[in-house]
Amino acid sequence: MTPLPLRPDSRVLVLTGAGISAESGVPTFRGAGGLWEGHPVTEVASPEGFDADPALVWRFYGERRQARKTVAPNPGHRALVALEHALGDRFLLATQNVDGLHREAGSQRVLAIHGELFESKCERCRVPFPDERTYLGEPVPVCPTCGQRIRVNVVWFGEMLDPKHLRQIDRFIAEAGNRLVFLAVGTSGLVYPAAGLVDSAKQVGGTTVLVDLAPNREHARRFDRVEVGKSGEVLPRLLAAAQ
Ligand SMILES: NC(=O)c1ccc[n+]([C@@H]2O[C@H](COP(=O)([O-])OP(=O)(O)OC[C@H]3O[C@@H](n4cnc5c(N)ncnc54)[C@H](O)[C@@H]3O)[C@@H](O)[C@H]2O)c1
Ligand SMILES: [Zn+2]
Repeated sequence: MTPLPLRPDSRVLVLTGAGISAESGVPTFRGAGGLWEGHPVTEVASPEGFDADPALVWRFYGERRQARKTVAPNPGHRALVALEHALGDRFLLATQNVDGLHREAGSQRVLAIHGELFESKCERCRVPFPDERTYLGEPVPVCPTCGQRIRVNVVWFGEMLDPKHLRQIDRFIAEAGNRLVFLAVGTSGLVYPAAGLVDSAKQVGGTTVLVDLAPNREHARRFDRVEVGKSGEVLPRLLAAAQ
């Protein structure tokens, strides 16, 4: 495999999705048929779903927290750590994963654009705090300050991403211009605004690369180069020159 062509002035923006954590044993949503115990994930990952049945939603995330504690980063995560070591501030990682595996592997310049599984926030106070507890239903936790319900700090279907994250990504792309290499890994490209980053990268003259085990054809067509395979096997080879 030809390594990613990196020049001394290259800037690399990486976007990761559920696929990069699949080899660690974290299931992708679509891989599971988009269902959890017969519920569509949109039902347990939306504000409407939480209003309708907060105990059910907490049981879903409680199980996610429990499962996450049993897994570890894989060679795909580690290849990105090595790339960041080589590039420093010329590297930025935006992840749609909430599992925290990039940070556990050692990545530092990470934006968790869909939030963090091990954080919670009060629906009213809205300040996220670290939270490793697993609620498996009732009672639904409430805020000690205001009495409102506590929820997990992930971005649910229909919710906005943190504008600070989006501005930081936009700035990175604009400053990089045609020195930009945009590398998307294990993401189906169906969830916006992350799915639009490939177009932003092309607009500034950047090079675009997709690594995915089973790329969605429509999504793959938008990239200059597509490497089909497991990210834990492809990334160490693709990024070998930077290590
Ligand atoms: N680990 C997590 O934190 C986690 C897990 C499931 C879902 N989610 C959330 O669900 C949403 C789903 O969007 P998405 O695009 O991230 O995921 P997705 O489930 O829509 O797509 C996953 C992609 O990964 C690919 N893939 C599967 N195994 C792979 C492997 N070993 N190597 C490389 N690619 C592989 C699939 O072909 C698919 O294209 C995201 O918003 C994310 O926040 C997060
Ligand atoms: Zn509160």
